[in-house]
Amino acid sequence: MSLLVAERSWLTDPEAAAGAVNELKNHILVPHANQIPVIESEARFKAVAAGRRFGKTKISASILIDKMLERPNSIGWWVAPEYKNVKRGYMEIVAQIPPSLLAKPAPPSTSQNLILHFKNGSVIEFYSAANADAMAGAAVDYVVFDEAGLVGSGDAWNQLIRPTLMDRKGGALFISTPRGKNWFWEICMRGLSKHVGDRDWAYWHYTSLDNPTIPDIEKEVEESRRIMPEMFFRQEIMAEFISAAASIFNLEHPDAVLNGIAEPNGQTVFMGVDLAQKEDFTVITASRAGDRVPVYHDRFNSLRWADQRERIRMAIRELEDRGAEDVRVGVDATGVGSAVVEEMENEGMNIEKIKFTNQWKESAVGVLARDLQNGDAHILRDQIDEFEHYEYKITPSGNYKFESSVGHDDEVSAKLIENFMHHQLGNAEFKVIPTGEPEAAVKDTGLPTKLTTGDDADPLRDRLNNPAAWGGASGRSGRGFR
Ligand SMILES: Nc1ncnc2c1ncn2[C@@H]1O[C@H](COP(=O)(O)OP(=O)(O)OP(=O)(O)O)[C@@H](O)[C@H]1O
Ligand SMILES: [Mg+2]
Repeated sequence: MSLLVAERSWLTDPEAAAGAVNELKNHILVPHANQIPVIESEARFKAVAAGRRFGKTKISASILIDKMLERPNSIGWWVAPEYKNVKRGYMEIVAQIPPSLLAKPAPPSTSQNLILHFKNGSVIEFYSAANADAMAGAAVDYVVFDEAGLVGSGDAWNQLIRPTLMDRKGGALFISTPRGKNWFWEICMRGLSKHVGDRDWAYWHYTSLDNPTIPDIEKEVEESRRIMPEMFFRQEIMAEFISAAASIFNLEHPDAVLNGIAEPNGQTVFMGVDLAQKEDFTVITASRAGDRVPVYHDRFNSLRWADQRERIRMAIRELEDRGAEDVRVGVDATGVGSAVVEEMENEGMNIEKIKFTNQWKESAVGVLARDLQNGDAHILRDQIDEFEHYEYKITPSGNYKFESSVGHDDEVSAKLIENFMHHQLGNAEFKVIPTGEPEAAVKDTGLPTKLTTGDDADPLRDRLNNPAAWGGASGRSGRGFR
C-alpha cells in the first residue's frame, strides 16, 4: 500500500510510525468486496457502471490518492459534470488523505481553486466538465471521471483529457450510474470489446445491491422498487443502460385501468384541468381522495375561455350534486392559463395554481408512473391510448423529455395535475411540493424536511424517496420534491 511508504520518517522512527498507523486508520478506505476488482485491475482505462450508492465516489477517491502516492510528482485530475459533483468528490478525497501527507492544508471546499499538494510532489486538481475550457494543458498521470454518464458528450474526454494522458501514459477511471446509451455507454462497451484497439480497457457492472456496507441493502432496494417508476429503478438501482426512448407508464397492474367512473361517496374530490391551448382539447379529470378512483372525466375542444370556465363550473356542480364533500381544483396556470385562472378566482372559485414547468413535469410524471405501476392511481380505459404513447426521451446530457409520440397529451397532463393534488393536499403517501416553494410549505406534512444532498449521512431511502433523485442530473437540487 503506497500510503505506508509515503512518509519516509515512518520507516525509521517507531513513534512516528505508530502515530501514522492511527492516522491512517482514521482516513484510509477499506474497499468492500465489489470494489476490490476495480482497484486490482491493471487496465489502463477502467469503466464502472454502478447503481446509486454503490460506493463509486469513495472508491474513485481511494484509487486516485493511491496513484498520487505511488509515483511522486504525479498529476491527478478529478473531473465531474458540475461544480457540486466536483465538490463532493473533493470532500471525499480530503477525508481520505491523512493530513500529514499534504504539503499544505487542504483549501476549504468553497475555494475557487481546488487543488491538493502532497509532500511527495504529487498534485490533484479538480475540474467540472461543464467548464472544460478551464482544464489546464498538462501531462496528467491519472484522471477520475465521476458521474461520467451525466455529461452531454465525450468531447471533454476526447479533446481535452485524453491528450493530457499521452506523455506519461496516464490512466483513467470512468464511474457512473448509467443515463441511457450515451458516450459513457460507449466507453463501457470498449471494456467489453475484444477489439485490439480496446485491449487497454476494462469494464465492471454493479447494482446498488452490491454495496455490502449499507445495512439491510436488500430491504432498501425492495422499498425503492416499490416507490420508483420501473424505468428509473432499472437505471438508478440496477444500473441498466435503458434505451434512450420508451413508453413511461406501465399499466400492467390490475387496478391501473378501470372501466368507468364511480361515485364520490361523500369524499373530497381532486380535479385536474388541462386547458386547451391552440388546437388542443380541454380535459377535466377527477378522482376521490380515499382510493383515487375516477369520479369524473370530460374532454372537449372549445377554445373559448368562457366555455372552458363554464365546463369546469358545471363539473364541480355535478360532483357536488353527486355527493362530493368538497371539490379541489388544480389548473395549469402557466401561459394563457394564468388569465383563465385569474378570472375563475375573481368569480370566487378556489383554484390550486400549478406551474407546469419542465422540472415540475419531470417530478409529476415520475410520481404518476410509480403510482399507476403500483395500482395506487387509476386511469379510465378510454385514456389508455394516450398513456401508452407517452414517452420519455433521454437527451445526450442525461436529462429527460416527456412527450406524446402521437401528438395529444392533454389526458396525461390533466391526470398529472389531479395526481399531484392527491400528493399535495390529500393523503397520498408522500408530498410533492411545487418547484421553488419554500421549505415551510411542507412543514406540517410529518415528512422529513431535509433536502437531499447526496451526503453520506443520507440513507439510500432518503435519496430514493425523492423523485428528483430518480431522474434529474445527479446532484441537482432536490428542492421541490418530497
Ligand atoms: N469501502 C467502503 N467502506 C465503507 N463504506 C462505504 C464503502 N464504499 C461505500 N461506502 C458507503 O456507501 C455509501 C455510498 O458511497 P458513495 O457516496 O461513494 O457512493 P456513490 O456510488 O458515489 O453514490 P451516489 O450514486 O450517490 O453518487 C456511503 O454511505 C459510504 O459510506
Ligand atoms: Mg457519487
